[in-house]
This record gives sequence, C-alpha cells and structure tokens, in this order.
Amino acid sequence: VKGIVIFKGKHGSTKQYADWISSALQLAQTPSDNISGPNLAEYPFLVLGSAVYVGKLTLKEWLRAHVAELQKKRIFFFLVCGTDPNDKEKVDQLIAKNIPREIIPQCQIFVLPGRLLIEKLSWKEKLLLKMGALLAKDPAQKQMMRQGYDGMRKDSIAPLVASVLAFQSSQKTPDKSAPPRMSPA
Ligand SMILES: Cc1cc2nc3c(=O)[nH]c(=O)nc-3n(C[C@H](O)[C@H](O)[C@H](O)COP(=O)(O)O)c2cc1C
Repeated sequence: VKGIVIFKGKHGSTKQYADWISSALQLAQTPSDNISGPNLAEYPFLVLGSAVYVGKLTLKEWLRAHVAELQKKRIFFFLVCGTDPNDKEKVDQLIAKNIPREIIPQCQIFVLPGRLLIEKLSWKEKLLLKMGALLAKDPAQKQMMRQGYDGMRKDSIAPLVASVLAFQSSQKTPDKSAPPRMSPA
C-alpha cells in the first residue's frame, strides 16, 4: 500500500527525520506546503511530521485545512520537539491543542527528540526562548532553552517504522496463487 511522508519544520530537524523515515520505508516525501486536498486521494495512509514552536505545531493550519481528507486515512504522526517524550501530560496537551479532534482516532503519535541550535535562530526566536527560559520552572528545561540541545538519533524512528510496516502487511491483498488456507481445526 502506498503512503507519503508530509512534514513541516523550520530549522531542519523535522526534515531530517522525514528523510530517515522516507528512506527506511521507501516512501516519497514532501513539505506540506507542496501538497493539498486532491493530491492526498491516492494515499491510504500518511506519515505526518511536525515541529513544535511555543506550544504550537508548525503543521497545525495544514491539519485544519485538510480535516475532511485526513479523516479517511490511517495516520502515523511524528512530533519533533524539546518536550520529554515520557511526559505524558505535556504530550497530551500538545495533541489536544493542535490536532483536530476528528482525526485523533486515526492517528498513532510518536514523539521524537529534536534539535535546537541557538546560533541558527532568528532574533525573534532567540527572544522567545529567553523569555521561555525565564518562565521555565524545570531546571533541565531552562538549561535546554539557554544552551540548546541535539537529540537527533536515527534509531528514534524505529517504533514508527515498525508500526507502518505492520499496517502495510495487514493491508496486503491475499495472494491468489497461494493454495487455499485451511480453516483451523
Ligand atoms: C522559539 C522556539 C520555541 C520552541 N517551543 C517549543 C515548545 O513549546 N515545546 C517543545 O516541545 N519544543 C519547543 N521548541 C523546540 C523545537 O520544537 C525543536 O528544536 C525542534 O527540533 C525544531 O524543529 P525544526 O528543526 O524542524 O524546526 C522550541 C524551539 C524554539 C527555537
């Protein structure tokens, strides 16, 4: 079964994961800006990738704009961010605030550690981070916002890749040349 990787980030870490995922699964990939409704029709499943900036998914508007088509798909969603993937409360909050309720039942969501290189940011982003660091209560979070971090690891895509492969093999049409299967005794 055919699928496609659609992503939106700003500074390259979401794109890096999209590259790793599309080569691991041999799927085409495209930034979300290049794809819209009619193009989606041919894909029974989608791998969607989004970065998180100040609590908001970069893909948020695109999701809203395509709810009708997305409701018909199986979706494997990866979030690239600084939020600890094990912090269930924060992750649930990100999901509730950004992913339209209508498509949540079709989504399997994976949180992947991103990358933040302070020197690559715009002055606006640097300012936002400085304010964020002042407000952050968790010392580890504060430190990440002040000094940046690099959590990029190709291995992190493994659970998503495994889920897609399982879905693809469950969708395979039975091979007509194979002998009829015996029903269990
Ligand atoms: C200004 C700014 C705000 C951010 N806000 C959040 C946030 O609210 N939650 C979060 O988990 N990560 C946040 N991050 C971390 C990014 O999501 C992370 O660096 C991600 O890897 C960026 O993806 P990209 O390289 O594809 O743009 C923020 C980063 C910046 C620079």
